[in-house]
Amino acid sequence: MFRPYPVERLVFGSGESRLLCADAVSDPALEAYRGRVQTVYADPPFMTGDRLDGRRPFGERGWRDGKPTVALPGFSDRFESRDDHLALLRGLAEQAKALLTATGLFMLHTDWHASAHARLLCDGIFGERCFVNEVIWAYESGGRARRTFSRKHDTVLIYGRTPDWRLEPEKAAVPRSSRRRSHMRRAVDADGRPYSIMVSGGKEYRYYDDDPVTPGDVWTDISHLQQRDPERTGWPTQKPLKLLLRLLSCALHPGELAADLCAGSGTTAAAAVRLGAHCLAVDLNPAACVMSALRLDLKDLTLDLPAEAPSGPAGRLDGTLEGSGLLLLSAYDAEDPDFPAGGPLDAVTAWAAGRIRDGVFLAQDVFLRSQRHPALTPMALLRPGEGVPAVAVIDAANRLWVFAWTDE
Ligand SMILES: C[S@@+](CC[C@H](N)C(=O)[O-])C[C@H]1O[C@@H](n2cnc3c(N)ncnc32)[C@H](O)[C@@H]1O
Repeated sequence: MFRPYPVERLVFGSGESRLLCADAVSDPALEAYRGRVQTVYADPPFMTGDRLDGRRPFGERGWRDGKPTVALPGFSDRFESRDDHLALLRGLAEQAKALLTATGLFMLHTDWHASAHARLLCDGIFGERCFVNEVIWAYESGGRARRTFSRKHDTVLIYGRTPDWRLEPEKAAVPRSSRRRSHMRRAVDADGRPYSIMVSGGKEYRYYDDDPVTPGDVWTDISHLQQRDPERTGWPTQKPLKLLLRLLSCALHPGELAADLCAGSGTTAAAAVRLGAHCLAVDLNPAACVMSALRLDLKDLTLDLPAEAPSGPAGRLDGTLEGSGLLLLSAYDAEDPDFPAGGPLDAVTAWAAGRIRDGVFLAQDVFLRSQRHPALTPMALLRPGEGVPAVAVIDAANRLWVFAWTDE
């Protein structure tokens, strides 16, 4: 039978990316990364005064049709005072400075609530000479203000760890033709290449449509995630992958390390891995760390959760393990009165078969629901090896438990 077995670390594949459930300002585990991180991004709570929770699909039907869903505990964006919020920003900026390499960059994502304060604070910590950019990400989203111009942009402040920072904006170049057409005269050259012409001081300047142009510091071509965007994880405040891909692609080389100090749904981790880099993703909330792990398809990552993660008691896992290694899950009861009724494994979003060795769960095979594959495989073949056969279960509310097999 399967019995809950508390573990604080789970390793999937190479374990290269690290997802850490901790306070990014003060956790001593971050000291191991001092001076090693090429890009630190942080998208902390903005001080909106709201409590932000999310929703996740439940079971095969939820993943296929979008309903039913269950509540996902998010985070509080309430602060007692401006000073409390600034203390968090200061702690994150100081931590970023400690983590960065000499050529590394810090990217702090804010909005109108705190961007002016954040700019002054970062000038003080990094020095005005290390200010790189204030990127304005402007988007269209529903809702119009009556008494103000609608607030439709976020600000990403970028600072170098030293004046020798490395940023390669040309890596985000887009063909000129994809940008808004100007009033310039249009023409086509002898090879059929369209271009625009500007005449200045009697000289003709040609701007070919297929010439790459590096972006300026106002980005209007990345939309906010729409309500039904397939990229949406259900985590509140999730940022578009395209935004993180643009920021990181100019700052990070394959094989280097990015860190996100407020990881949320793991957008930075997903972007870093897509660019062939690794990620250190830190979040206070275990549900966010599990979200990041799911975002990486439970591949090549180490997930550290505190023993006392506030997940409540484990549910009940039923299944069998044959001598051949054939492992079959038959039912999982999350014992959560807020979960809807469903099939025997509907409460499970993902699971992994593996072994526990020296207190660490080492995954062998992983199985995840997705919009394309809403059904969950209940069966795995556990290879022989050292350690206690075990199963890690992630439920619909992103709670994770490990169950060890005992022959009793
Ligand atoms: C705005 S969300 C990040 C969203 C993320 N960028 C995304 O794309 O999903 C902010 C996150 O910061 C986390 N957080 C707040 N204070 C923190 C701290 N001191 N250390 C680590 N994480 C923190 C919250 O739990 C929340 O998940």
